[in-house]
Amino acid sequence: MNAMTSPNLSNVSETMPVTDDYLRITNLWKTYGDFVALQDVSLRIARGEFICFLGPSGCGKTTLLRAIAGLEPQTGGQISQGGRDISNLPASQRDYGIVFQSYALFPNLTVVRNVAFGLENTGRPKAEITRRVAELLALIGLPDKADRYPAQLSGGQQQRIALARSIAINPGLLLLDEPLSALDAKVRVHLRHEIKELQRKLGVTTIMVTHDQEEALSMADRIVVMNHGRIEQIGTPTEIYRHPASLFVADFIGETNRFASQYQQGAVKLGSVVLNTDVPGQTDGTAVMVAIRPEDILPHSAGHDAASKPNRLPVTISAQEFLGSSWRMHLRSDALGEAPLVANFSMNAVRRLDLSEGSRLTVELPAERVLVFPKGS
Ligand SMILES: Nc1ncnc2c1ncn2[C@@H]1O[C@H](COP(=O)(O)OP(=O)(O)O)[C@@H](O)[C@H]1O
Ligand SMILES: [Mg+2]
Repeated sequence: MNAMTSPNLSNVSETMPVTDDYLRITNLWKTYGDFVALQDVSLRIARGEFICFLGPSGCGKTTLLRAIAGLEPQTGGQISQGGRDISNLPASQRDYGIVFQSYALFPNLTVVRNVAFGLENTGRPKAEITRRVAELLALIGLPDKADRYPAQLSGGQQQRIALARSIAINPGLLLLDEPLSALDAKVRVHLRHEIKELQRKLGVTTIMVTHDQEEALSMADRIVVMNHGRIEQIGTPTEIYRHPASLFVADFIGETNRFASQYQQGAVKLGSVVLNTDVPGQTDGTAVMVAIRPEDILPHSAGHDAASKPNRLPVTISAQEFLGSSWRMHLRSDALGEAPLVANFSMNAVRRLDLSEGSRLTVELPAERVLVFPKGS
C-alpha cells in the first residue's frame, strides 16, 4: 500500500515521453536461496493494456507482480515504467495502485476513510478529497455505502472498495493479485465485467494475476502464460487458445485430448486413422504429442463419408454427460484402441443427429484444429 501514499507520483508518467512500451521488464531473475522463482523473464506492456499473468499455483505470478511493485526486489534484471528505470526504487517511490485477494481494508475505518486513505497522505485539501471519494464511490456503484464499515459489506463490495482505494490517486499502473479468487462464482463473473469496464474507462495500464483461465480469457488484452518461473507464451486470448505454443499451454488453457504419435508428411496417426494437420515445420519421423480440443471434434451421421477419408473415424458413444449448454461425449472406436476420445457436442447437433449413449456416428477432426507439439516440449 506504500505506493498509494506516495505524493503526486501519478503525474510523473504523464510528463514522460510517450513510448510504445509503458512497462518494460528485461531479463528478470528472482531466487530464494537455491530456488529459482523467476527465470529470465522479459516482457513489454503497452500503455493502457490489460494484461493477465496466468499459470498454476507456485509458477511465480505473485513474485513477478511484487517485483514490479518493488515489494520483493528482483535478484537480477531491469524494470522500467513510463521510460523511467524503477529497478531499484523503493515501493513508496513507484507509481501504482494494488489490490490483493484478501480485501485488506482497514476494519476500523469507514468506507469513506478507507478510500480516502491514500489521498489524505498526499496533503490535498479536504474538500477535494471529499469530492474525489464521492466520485470514486459512484464509479464503483456504491455511493450509498460511504459510512459503512468493511465488516458490514459483502466480499464483492469490499473488493470494489479496495479497487476504488487503489485508483484514488490515479496511478499509472494498476496491479491486481487474484482479486476475484475469494468470491463466489456469481459475484466473480459479475465483477469481471465491472473491473474490465472500469479499466477501459480509466485507460489505466493493468496487470491482473490469476490462475483461472476463464477469467484471463474473458478479461485480458494479452495473456502471459507462466510455468515454473518462466514465460511459456504471450498472446491475445484467441492466439493462446487457438495456437498454444506448447503442450503445457494447450493443456492449461482449455481442455485437450492428447496422444503420442509420429509426424509423417504433414500427417499424424491416431491409432490406425490418418490425421492431416496444418502444422508446418516438423521433420518426418519426429515423435510428437498431438492434441485436439473436445469442442473441435465435429459430429456427422454414421454413414457420412465413413472412415475412408483422412481426419474422420467411426465411433460409438460410450458415455455422456449433460453440461447444460452442451453434451460431453466419451467416444470409443476400434481404430483408437483403448483410449477414449472426449468430445463436446452442441445441443443442436445432439438433437439433429439423435445421439445418445450407444449411438454410432462419424466424427471429423479438422486438420486446422489438430495441434502438434514436439514430444517432451
Ligand atoms: N519468501 C519466499 N521464500 C521462499 N520461496 C518463496 C518465497 N515467496 C515465494 N516463494 C516460492 O516461489 C514460488 C512462486 O511463488 P508465487 O510467485 O507466490 O507463485 P504464484 O503466485 O504463481 O502462485 C513458489 O514455489 C513459492 O513457494
Ligand atoms: Mg500468487
